[in-house]
Amino acid sequence: MSPSNETTVRRTKIGIVGAGSVGTSLAYAAMIRGTATDIALYDLQTAKVEAEALDLSHGQMFAPGVRVEGSDDVAVLKDADIVFVTAGAKQRPGQTRLDLAGANTAILKSLMPQLVEQAPQAVFVLVTNPCDVLTVVAQQITGLSHQRIMSSGTVLDTSRLRWLIGSEAQVNTSSVHAYIIGEHGDSEFPVWSSASIGQVPLSEWEVDGRRPFTTERLDELKDQVVNAAYRVIEGKGATNYAIGLAGVRIAEAVLKDQQSVLSVSTVLEDYYGVSGVALSVPSVVGGAGVGQQLRIPMGEPEKQQLRASAGTMRSSLHDLGF
Ligand code: 2OP
Repeated sequence: MSPSNETTVRRTKIGIVGAGSVGTSLAYAAMIRGTATDIALYDLQTAKVEAEALDLSHGQMFAPGVRVEGSDDVAVLKDADIVFVTAGAKQRPGQTRLDLAGANTAILKSLMPQLVEQAPQAVFVLVTNPCDVLTVVAQQITGLSHQRIMSSGTVLDTSRLRWLIGSEAQVNTSSVHAYIIGEHGDSEFPVWSSASIGQVPLSEWEVDGRRPFTTERLDELKDQVVNAAYRVIEGKGATNYAIGLAGVRIAEAVLKDQQSVLSVSTVLEDYYGVSGVALSVPSVVGGAGVGQQLRIPMGEPEKQQLRASAGTMRSSLHDLGF
C-alpha cells in the first residue's frame, strides 16, 4: 500500500486568557497530555506572555506535537474550540474567593464580548474566582446558552476529596466515587449519602478490620477540602498545578466529545428547586459543553446545603447588580 497524501488531522485549539500561574499550568498540562493541536495564550503583559509561550515551545521535542502561541493581541484566540478564563485578581492569604467578585466582574465586562467575537463557536470555562458568580455574569453579558458557559467549579475540589479518601482507604483515587458540589468556595459540601468505593458505601469500607469513615472523620475530610486552597495559598501564594490538570480534564471532555460526568458549574434550572445561579453538580460534559445534570440521590441535609450555597451566590450576584 502506498502512503496516503491525504492525512487530515483535525486541529483543535485551546485558548487561555491569562498567562499567570494557573493559565500556564493549564497550558503545560495540556501540552504534555496532547490535549489539543494548538494552545494560545492571551495576556496584556506582552513580555510575560511571549516568554511563557516560548518557554513552553522549547519543550516541544519532549511532548506530543503541539503548537503554542502567546500574544497581547486577543486575536491569538481566533477560532479556539474552548476558551479558559484565568485572568483577574487572585486570592491573597485571608481573602475568600467571593472577596474578588467586584474586581473580576469589571474585568469580564470588557473581556467577554472580545472573546466571543474571536471564538464564536467556543465553549467557555471560567476559572477566575469566584468562578460560579462569574459564570452567571459572563452568561448574562454574552447571552450565550447555559450549555456553553461553565466554570471549572468543584472538579478540583472533587479531586481533592477523592485523593483524601483514596489515601485513607488505601485504594486508587479513580476507584473512589464521591463528589463535592455547590459553590467552589466556603459553602461547598460532599454528597456523602451516595459516596462509595467501588460499590461499597463509604461508611462500610474496612481497612484492617475497622471502618475509618465515621461521621466525625467525614466532617474532618470535608473541612480539609474546604480549606485546601487556603492552606496552599498560605504556603506558596497561589494554587496552580491541580487546577491546571482539572482544566485539562474538562478540555478533553469537550474536545474529544467524551460525555464525561464532571462536577462543573453552570446556571441551574430547577435542580432540586434551585434555579438562576451557577453551582457545581455532576454533569455530562461533551463537545457542545454541559449536557444533562445528574440528579444524584441526596438526603434532606444535603438539599439544604445546596439551597444555602445557592443563597450565598444570590446575595453575591445581587451585590454586583446582577
Ligand atoms: C483553588 O481552589 C484558589 O480556587 C482556587 O485552588
